[in-house]
Amino acid sequence: MNNIPLIIGTNLKMYKNSSDTTAYLSKLIQITKEFSDSDIKIFVIPSFTSIPAASQILLNNSIMLGAQNMHWEDSGAFTGEISPKMLEEFNVKIIEIAHSERRHIFNESDEIANKKVLSALSHGFVALLCIGETKDQKESNIADETLQIQLKIGLKNVSTEQIDRIWIAYEPVWAIGEKGIPAYPNYVSSKHKIIKETLIQLFGDEGRKIPVLYGGSVNLSNIKGLISEKNVDGLFVGRAAWDPKGIELVIQESLNTRKRKL
Ligand code: PGA
Repeated sequence: MNNIPLIIGTNLKMYKNSSDTTAYLSKLIQITKEFSDSDIKIFVIPSFTSIPAASQILLNNSIMLGAQNMHWEDSGAFTGEISPKMLEEFNVKIIEIAHSERRHIFNESDEIANKKVLSALSHGFVALLCIGETKDQKESNIADETLQIQLKIGLKNVSTEQIDRIWIAYEPVWAIGEKGIPAYPNYVSSKHKIIKETLIQLFGDEGRKIPVLYGGSVNLSNIKGLISEKNVDGLFVGRAAWDPKGIELVIQESLNTRKRKL
């Protein structure tokens, strides 16, 4: 039995502008009206420029607002960066850290991820740390080690008191995006098991409370298999959730599967 509520969220990447995001969120608010917070947590991570409008529309709503990235310093000469203080102004709840595209296009290291995790936690945000092996690492049979390293460095110096604000997204790099191949549920489950064991190594029994979400080509045909796995606490969805009908179906299918699992 798993006490972690089902968590479903989407990262809108560099897709919707502020008015698209507002339209999307208005529909999502309607869709999720009937859901109880104790059954499901829903989050949306739009572009930075959409955050002010998104924050207005989500006032008094339980849908959690996230940011796709954040600098670790409060202020400074860091042209082009956004600080925790700036995000605090907009009721942002979650900071997405080290998504595969940040790691591989913008060269973010585990050390940088760790600075962002510590900063996000010290400002009261949920730190959503994304980890995942590349195709090469998988083929070289070092996926488990890769995940362990990403967790051990990414979560270095996080205290046990802070772990209720740590979420992990397991997103194998080879599974993400249009060219991605969705991972099989049993593969995902085995990696989530490694992740959960590593979290217990790092934080003792408390580590069990950290939700581990799966992301990478989640779609309507694989949700049931993924959510049925015992180590999967939720889904971090891209393309399949970018229109309101899509996310509605993702949420429904996940909730129905979760109910059967409990
Ligand atoms: P995808 O994106 O669902 O479109 O593969 C997942 C992600 O990048 O988190």
